[in-house]
Amino acid sequence: MNNNARHSIRDIISNNEIMPGVFLMWIKAPEIADAAKPGQFIMMHCGGKTLLRRPISIHRTDGSKLAVLYAESGAGTQWLSKQKEQASIDILGPLGNGYMIKKDAKNLLLIAGGMGIAPLAFLAQSAIAESKRITLLLGAQKADTLFPDSLLLSDIKCIVTTDDGSAGIKGRTTDLLPSYLGEADQVFACGPAPMYRTMYKNNLLNNKPCQVSLEVRMACGMGVCYGCTIKTQNGLKQVCHDGPVFEFDDVLWDELVDI
Ligand code: FES
Repeated sequence: MNNNARHSIRDIISNNEIMPGVFLMWIKAPEIADAAKPGQFIMMHCGGKTLLRRPISIHRTDGSKLAVLYAESGAGTQWLSKQKEQASIDILGPLGNGYMIKKDAKNLLLIAGGMGIAPLAFLAQSAIAESKRITLLLGAQKADTLFPDSLLLSDIKCIVTTDDGSAGIKGRTTDLLPSYLGEADQVFACGPAPMYRTMYKNNLLNNKPCQVSLEVRMACGMGVCYGCTIKTQNGLKQVCHDGPVFEFDDVLWDELVDI
């Protein structure tokens, strides 16, 4: 387990639905907020609805508070969505490795597909504090599933795509990726498997290094059960312990089955 990880029972500060079925929860958790790095996650206990904790990316921090962004996608997250301000929540973290920003990188390109904005918003927050310039390609299926502009930091240059063209440019973030690649010193991505597969099959990164966060099923979240093992160029890796962030070229995309 990550040496900085802490188990805490903490108070919910707010828990609001910010778009249909997607909630932003702020939690008072000073020790986790202080230790957290962009790309890391916490395991959240979801009441009596599920036996296992749910892994959820850390979305932002603010002093002693941290935020998570989650979609209602089962009994556990439905339970989470019903929790009110001042209710207690059982969390463990921060877990995982996180993204690495190079000191000499000035222009960062972030590619967020759908809920992939969850960890990338934290990365942007951290990078802006280090005076980096951020370009974000933010994609969604349609306008009402698009992460709200008002919740993005104003220093981010954001280019929006939607599959149906109901907001921003019609298409996918991957359509725009080649146009923005040249000016990027570093590239970071978080999104669904099809987004990564498109990047891989079409060599959209043109061999430029890119760090990606993987979302796979997890049970323990601490490197114990081997339930999150993937194949990489460097052998078998556990997403919860060795990831969730990997170098794009390290992942054997043709072998990735359960994502
Ligand atoms: Fe158990 Fe990763 S979830 S080893």
